Amino acid sequence: MSIQDKIKELTELRNEAMLGGGEKRIKTQHRKGKLTARERIDLLLDDGSFEEFDMFVSHRCIDFGLEEETYLSDGVVTGYGTIDGRLVYLFSQDFTVFGGSLSEMYAAKICKVMDMAMKVGAPVVGINDSGGARIQEGVKSLGGYADIFQRNVLASGVIPQISAVFGPCAGGAVYSPALTDFIIMAKNTGYMFITGPKVVKTVTGEVVTEEDLGGASIHSSKSGVCHFTCDNEEQGIMLIRKLLSYMPQNNFEDPPIYACSDPIDRIEDSLNEVIPDNPNKPYDIIDVIDSIVDDGEFLEVQPAYARNIVIGFARMNGMPIGIVSNQPNYLAGVLDINASRKAARFVRFCDAFNIPILTLVDVPGYLPGTSQEYGGIIIHGAKLLYAYAEATVPKITVILRKAYGGAYDVMGSKHLRGDINYAWPTAEISVMGPKGAIEVLYFKELKEITDAKEKIKFVAEKEQEYREKFATPYEAAKYGYIDDVIEPRNTRFRIIRALQSLQSKKVTNPPKKHSNIPL
Ligand code: HXC
Repeated sequence: MSIQDKIKELTELRNEAMLGGGEKRIKTQHRKGKLTARERIDLLLDDGSFEEFDMFVSHRCIDFGLEEETYLSDGVVTGYGTIDGRLVYLFSQDFTVFGGSLSEMYAAKICKVMDMAMKVGAPVVGINDSGGARIQEGVKSLGGYADIFQRNVLASGVIPQISAVFGPCAGGAVYSPALTDFIIMAKNTGYMFITGPKVVKTVTGEVVTEEDLGGASIHSSKSGVCHFTCDNEEQGIMLIRKLLSYMPQNNFEDPPIYACSDPIDRIEDSLNEVIPDNPNKPYDIIDVIDSIVDDGEFLEVQPAYARNIVIGFARMNGMPIGIVSNQPNYLAGVLDINASRKAARFVRFCDAFNIPILTLVDVPGYLPGTSQEYGGIIIHGAKLLYAYAEATVPKITVILRKAYGGAYDVMGSKHLRGDINYAWPTAEISVMGPKGAIEVLYFKELKEITDAKEKIKFVAEKEQEYREKFATPYEAAKYGYIDDVIEPRNTRFRIIRALQSLQSKKVTNPPKKHSNIPL
């Protein structure tokens, strides 16, 4: 064979690989409103930056006639490229080859890019679109999954891992995305469940559609499995690019700082008016966040799940930060099981990847009641406490209004190594709200007052007294638990100054094999 013939052969093989499972199946993929594995990579990476690995891999199965049916790349496209000039490793499952199902060699390809990503310290993005274990390969496929899970776990907290679910992701296959840091699901085409509708019907008798069992809307609002949804794949892919812009390449690096044109000393007069006179009246914390961060740009994570707490990424003076905030607009911003779990995982992510945490507090406490107690609020609430106490990144807290009871301690307090803790003059920091406190403190007196009007008057007087004494920031400031009481309109400037002062912060936890977070 001449060199020309050899090059021609290479080109032909490459062209063959590009077609995955063939034109017909590509058309079917498009008909379903889905892109192919390679089209997704083209959109995700900077133009011309993709370097592919293992294009010539094919499966080794000789059962069920599979030896007669092989495809170059074997159902997953892998390699590396750049996003905004930063290195990223990736795999993109190809549904046109055996329904994207995972074989021994397919798993080996994924493991190879994960190993490379760990070696050089770069994020991994996985695009999922697969019928699960390749049935013909039996236990080799199961083993392949476990090989990936093992790598997901070792990479956790070392390099960012992001999963997109743009097609089926069923059975044990769901556990690889679940082990990664963020899951993005496409509405209508992406779904995740450990057993599909048919098995559910057989085992439990329940009749449910794929969408209602594990579609994007279910996992973004009810289960909390998914962090972001997208209307289409293009939107989802842009989201991955944006999400990565807040993250460092690995746990030894700081997140990238972007040029900031929003003045750092921008005074936001509206913040002086944002807290209603009535302490029980809600307001939208997103308005507060938008007005203090750079250019009002806030990437909210899990916006539809446990809406009583808000988490997400933003920048201040170009520096990426993670924001955790109670949301008075939803269940008065109370802490419950789901809110605690949601925020705890986010705090731990930020801490693992050197992203400072800004906590905005307006919380009436933990949610009381049997459903919370039976559900284990003690354990789940402890997760958030644990996450804050363990975190060594810069921690800045601003108490806007209520900081009652255990929730005061948990929400980035000084006592859990909060670095700089501010309060607005509207802050109310106390063991409990005035109403509950009066009922406990004056239980006997209230019992003795029989006249209803007199009772109301008594309660109002005592509440006022309590409010004046405890429902202010000054009692906490007196003990140094609050570093300063700041005017709301200056919040942006004060936080940026605090962040700047903490850039060289170094705190380490005692050496240990690993911690034992209440799971
Ligand atoms: C081999 C598979 C496959 C699989 C699909 N195909 N799933 N081949 N192993 N797991 C093939 C089909 O035979 C078909 O081949 C092509 O992929 C497209 O599949 P269709 O069924 O035509 O597509 P669609 O109608 O869109 O349905 C997609 C699907 C369905 C919902 C994913 O294919 C399906 O239910 N597949 C089985 C899912 C499953 O039970 N997987 C195992 C889960 S258990 P042709 O040649 O016609 O194109 C598991 C354990 C993992 O994964 C444990 C890890 C610890």
